[in-house]
Amino acid sequence: MSCPPKSDDLVFFVNGRKVIERNADPEVTLLNFLRKNLRLTGTKYACGRGGCGACTVMVSKHDPVSAKIRHFSITACLVPICSLYGAAVTTVEGIGSVNTRLHPVQERIARSHGTQCGFCTPGMVMSMYTLLRNHLQPSEEQLMEALGGNLCRCTGYRPILASGRTFCVESTGCQKKRTGKCCLDLGGNDSSSLNRESDICTDLFVEEEFQPLDPTQELIFPPELLRMAKNPEKQTLTFHGERVTWISPGTLKDLLKLKAKHPEAPLILGNTSLGPAMKSQGRVHPILLSPARISELSMVFKTSDGLTIGAGCSLAQVKDILAEQVSELPEEKTQTYRALLKHLKSLAGQQIRNMASLGGHVISRHCYSDLNPILVVGNATLNLISEEGTRQIPLNDHFLAGLASADLKPEEILESVYIPHSQKWEFVSAFRQAQCQQNALADVSAGMRVILEEATDTIKELSLSYGGVGEATIGAHKSCQQLIGRPWNEQMLEEACRLLLEEVSLPGWAPGGRVEFKRTLVVSFFFKFYLEVLQELKKLVKVSDSHHYPEISDRFLSALEDFPVTGPRGVQRYQSVDSHQSLQDPVGRPIMHLSGLKHATGEAIFCDDIPMVDRELFMVLVTSTKAHAKIISIDLSEALELPGVVDVIKAEDIPGTNGAEDDKLLAVDEVLCVGQIICAVVAETDVQAKRAIEKIKITYKDLEPIIFTINDAIKHNSFLCPEKKLEQGNIEEAFEKVDQIVEGEVHVGGQEHFYMETQRVIVIPKAEDKELDIYVSTQDPAHVQKTVSSTLNIPINRITCHVKRVGGGFGGKVGRPAVFGAIAAVGAIKTGRPIRLVLDREDDMLITGGRHPLFGKYKVGFMNNGRIKALDIECFINGGCTLDDSEQVTEFLILKLENAYKIRNLRFRGRACMTNLPSNTAFRGFGFPQGTLITESCITAVAAKCGLLPEEIREKNMYKTVDKTIYKQAFSPETLIRCWNECLDKSSFHSRRMQVEEFNKKNYWKKKGIAIIPMKFSVGFAATSYHQAAALVHIYTDGSVLVTHGGNELGQGIHTKMLQVASRELKLPMSYMHVCETSTATVPNTIATAASIGSDVNGKAVQNACQILLKRLEPIIKKNPGGTWEDWIEAAFEQRISLSATGYFRGYKAYMDWEKGEGDPFPYYVYGAACSEVEIDCLTGAHKKIRTDIIMDACCSLNPAIDIGQVEGSFIQGMGLYTTEELKYSPEGVLYSRGPDEYKIPTITDVPEEFNVSLLPSSQTPLTIYSSKGLGESGMFLGSSVFFAITDAVAAACKERDIVEDFIVKSPATPEQVRMACADRFTEMIPRDDPKTFKPWSIPIA
Ligand SMILES: Cc1cc2nc3c(=O)[nH]c(=O)nc-3n(C[C@H](O)[C@H](O)[C@H](O)COP(=O)(O)OP(=O)(O)OC[C@H]3O[C@@H](n4cnc5c(N)ncnc54)[C@H](O)[C@@H]3O)c2cc1C
Ligand code: FES
Ligand code: FES
Repeated sequence: MSCPPKSDDLVFFVNGRKVIERNADPEVTLLNFLRKNLRLTGTKYACGRGGCGACTVMVSKHDPVSAKIRHFSITACLVPICSLYGAAVTTVEGIGSVNTRLHPVQERIARSHGTQCGFCTPGMVMSMYTLLRNHLQPSEEQLMEALGGNLCRCTGYRPILASGRTFCVESTGCQKKRTGKCCLDLGGNDSSSLNRESDICTDLFVEEEFQPLDPTQELIFPPELLRMAKNPEKQTLTFHGERVTWISPGTLKDLLKLKAKHPEAPLILGNTSLGPAMKSQGRVHPILLSPARISELSMVFKTSDGLTIGAGCSLAQVKDILAEQVSELPEEKTQTYRALLKHLKSLAGQQIRNMASLGGHVISRHCYSDLNPILVVGNATLNLISEEGTRQIPLNDHFLAGLASADLKPEEILESVYIPHSQKWEFVSAFRQAQCQQNALADVSAGMRVILEEATDTIKELSLSYGGVGEATIGAHKSCQQLIGRPWNEQMLEEACRLLLEEVSLPGWAPGGRVEFKRTLVVSFFFKFYLEVLQELKKLVKVSDSHHYPEISDRFLSALEDFPVTGPRGVQRYQSVDSHQSLQDPVGRPIMHLSGLKHATGEAIFCDDIPMVDRELFMVLVTSTKAHAKIISIDLSEALELPGVVDVIKAEDIPGTNGAEDDKLLAVDEVLCVGQIICAVVAETDVQAKRAIEKIKITYKDLEPIIFTINDAIKHNSFLCPEKKLEQGNIEEAFEKVDQIVEGEVHVGGQEHFYMETQRVIVIPKAEDKELDIYVSTQDPAHVQKTVSSTLNIPINRITCHVKRVGGGFGGKVGRPAVFGAIAAVGAIKTGRPIRLVLDREDDMLITGGRHPLFGKYKVGFMNNGRIKALDIECFINGGCTLDDSEQVTEFLILKLENAYKIRNLRFRGRACMTNLPSNTAFRGFGFPQGTLITESCITAVAAKCGLLPEEIREKNMYKTVDKTIYKQAFSPETLIRCWNECLDKSSFHSRRMQVEEFNKKNYWKKKGIAIIPMKFSVGFAATSYHQAAALVHIYTDGSVLVTHGGNELGQGIHTKMLQVASRELKLPMSYMHVCETSTATVPNTIATAASIGSDVNGKAVQNACQILLKRLEPIIKKNPGGTWEDWIEAAFEQRISLSATGYFRGYKAYMDWEKGEGDPFPYYVYGAACSEVEIDCLTGAHKKIRTDIIMDACCSLNPAIDIGQVEGSFIQGMGLYTTEELKYSPEGVLYSRGPDEYKIPTITDVPEEFNVSLLPSSQTPLTIYSSKGLGESGMFLGSSVFFAITDAVAAACKERDIVEDFIVKSPATPEQVRMACADRFTEMIPRDDPKTFKPWSIPIA
């Protein structure tokens, strides 16, 4: 390899310290540089594509135009270090530390319980910090905007926002304060008697205790950089990397010269388009030209006829510039600017808007672009410049289609964009519809503009431009031409829609799918535009009353309103502890997560934050690109020759067993799905390993059959395990006696865990006795240990697995980490060197599988009064290619199907289908969230048939008295009924139901829906041995206590709860105690932390250990009752009393006899109820969550802050399952949705506007630790209340449109589903394709 020529020094600052990089590689991102070179691991990798915000840091630069310092947030994963010349970077470590001083943002997010696993927290902190650097007292809108680009999979966002709100102009921690009835004022925590309002607390933190924000404490912009900025270097800077050279000229002249010399070299601005493209296409540009130092590209000129914005301005700057223009100019002149502003608010997240440039946006010509359609209709012009001079070209369809005649010449660059003012009688609007409101690419975007002949309704000019409906932004020129001269009325509308559908045509197989939805949006948007213009005309008519325009019916007016983005509000209620409880006893109090502050400072160490170990190698997995095929050959030769590549690990290298016969760790001869692991490359660096996998050539021969869908599996009789069945009563006889019968189908899509920390493991082989240390992100270290043992054929006692903390698991880190651990261990043994394996987001999503998609058929028999007499459900889950947990998921699904209802005659059957997809696995709720959707859908079907409301059917059929479930387990539904009634009451359900109906009567295009759902959720595993747990508690001679137990910290706060238990038992403050990690060497043979039972069973074990220790100490304490803890421990040591004890809990009895169909499978139930109200836009399918009220029975919560956090987080995750999270597979079985851009988990703007959570007071259970309940999973299903509220709204629309009720239910209720269900004149207009005539882009697998 030839040595690159000498580079210039790259100078920038990180956290106030100067960095001089002598050999800056343009391919190195800031994220990698921070984590690897500077060892600042607070900034996290979670997606690498700018889509999640986990890597957010603040960049400060001197702006030559305004001569001010600009602070802005960015996603470090997309920022090449070379772009940082002269910039100051601030990371989470730079603003505070637990060891020195915490920044108020860090303190508040932790103390407001805004961290669970903590993996997203540094990113959240930095987004808020940057906001505060720019606005000391931000508005709520600014706060929402700042956090819109940050994803959190654990918390449900509410507490994060609550912490941010404490900085806002009108902040209040406790919403009750506004009513003058604050619980704290009432002495909340200390009240003694139960059942009074004062026993109910609504504050989870005390805002008054927070340290104030002191801007004088912030890092200043480095004076050296300021000097550099004020006397800018004019000379060109060059940074040579191994494959790429970065050239950053200091003058425009030099830039143009360079562009002429390297016409093929792209300009690099925000890298938000180039970066992801280079990554996904593996494309390398040998030369990159950076115009970052050219001030001419950031100029803004305001003239009397328009606005010229420099191509180098970021989209965030463009937004500010436009907002200024809008405030300065009369409304008629700012139509285009307003339309652009509308989309700039929802385009990506704040970080991307800060990075992405206007020029990069325009030149990228993404078909989904939000701005280009508006710029096209707004007649924007591109000002180009080259050495030859300047010229202007129109920003039109020809340019956007990349036609050479309308494009930039290779040596030209875009200098600026000119956007003319609009005029009177000109109207411009923008539309977009995406899977969710914020941070999601639009399915269809549009810019629309009309000019009417003055004071008439005659169309003088019309331009319509669409994004998302073709390979480029498309203009509907022909349609527009034909409509010129037509009056703006209904007939024109009808004709326009017809023309548009002809011109903007999408084939059935179009990439991206959702074809009929997109076609519908094309005309629905035009209809909205039609109404908007009429509305505007109405305003104008008042002035020049010369013409009569068509009236908009009042019932149509709501079509004009967009759903606003509002920050959620709400109250969290829980029962305060008994006033007699000792102040030192933390049980039942809202104690902050033990790692909360460390999460917020980035000092909490996750697996990949562990520093590189001596001689460490990096492993990357090679996966199958075929769904079912024979492996003919694997050619590794080219890969092995690449620099840095050490070895390729194959099945033959496994010394022990290669997984199970039907579930191999590494494929042998045959592959069963796309994404199956075939081999693994180990190399000196991750970059080298990733480059090597591209060079591995595998040839395959396709095998039959290839099965992806549940339907195909049924046809081929392809199942993973026998059918599971439960039956009660006489179903056939019952069907004969009922008044009515309905049959229907339910399809529930799968779900990706989307834990923020992808799967990762470090295996360190030791020199002696074949010992291995494994640091792994898992919910089940014992399983990793066992699997590694059998894979390497060494005893379990040589392997130690360590789990410090896990960045989210949700079931996805129960089984899979063992596979990665075992493969990495084989690599470690073969090479004799430590191995680090960190999955990319794409690979993680491709390989690991998730929640099982479900298809269910039901037949329900009922009386006309709504009493259900018989219910027969048969369901199938898509298990993927291996068994994994599919049999257990089927069992749990069947066991839990009845939910809260007593139905005398039942038959539930379930089977797991074997398909050629990655194996699906455990996921929060374990089948319950999918299965029970069938039961609840039956309820709504019965309600529709009886002409009654769903809540009436629910109430009528709910368990009322002590009874037995379908599997004959006795239980009392008293708490269930209390939850239901409280929920009805707290949500004012009945009056709101009336208001919803009123609203629906008055509005045609917007409909509201409301639903209340009861829940009986069984906790635990259906086997006693799975409920055992152990703990090891040591007391050291200084009195400090080390608690270890079998549970893993996944963010659910188990360690915090365990210390609360230990503190109560030892009567010792928590400050004496510590939990170090979960390790197989301290507590062996553990059970996976799952099934909501972790804190419960491990709590019992910790309690047992502490009780043993206290018993040993009792004689000493008795002898010296006035002594201190330290005195007693010292005495115990002197008296040779062991200060270490193992605690053990043998487990709750649980069994299930499937032969008899009876058992006692679950130790206890969690009851709950949720009510949600939504509003849908029938024209776009969008919805707004107006309000959710949840009542959850936590009994005596160990920690109400943590438990409320679990309820909120799981509810939002459930809401994602039922509304936006959609996995897309190609007809060849390739998962398309492999990152946050294609797979939409809820963002902060998806949280219900009012979100109230109450833990049911005065509830007891004698069985569990201090009468608490495990709440890890149950809230997930309550997310379905949003789904049923949406279906309620859709039903209202259908009723009004006389559409016959359809009993096919599909989840998620995406905008596509909602829009297409609200059939109307527009859905009727669109062309429909015969599915047999084309190959679709994606296939439904449920
Ligand atoms: C997570 C994420 C979410 C997004 N969401 C949205 C969304 O919701 N809606 C939407 O519309 N877009 C979205 N985008 C796309 C985003 O708007 C574009 O990627 C961005 O505007 C490109 O700007 P850039 O400065 O980063 O371009 P770069 O990546 O730096 O460059 C892109 C291209 O433009 C060329 N170029 C740049 N400037 C000039 C110039 N002055 N003269 C000539 N050529 C030039 C470069 O040569 C290069 O080929 C998203 C992107 C990301 C990463
Ligand atoms: S890791 Fe950078 S945005 Fe996700
Ligand atoms: S706390 Fe936000 S992802 Fe876990």
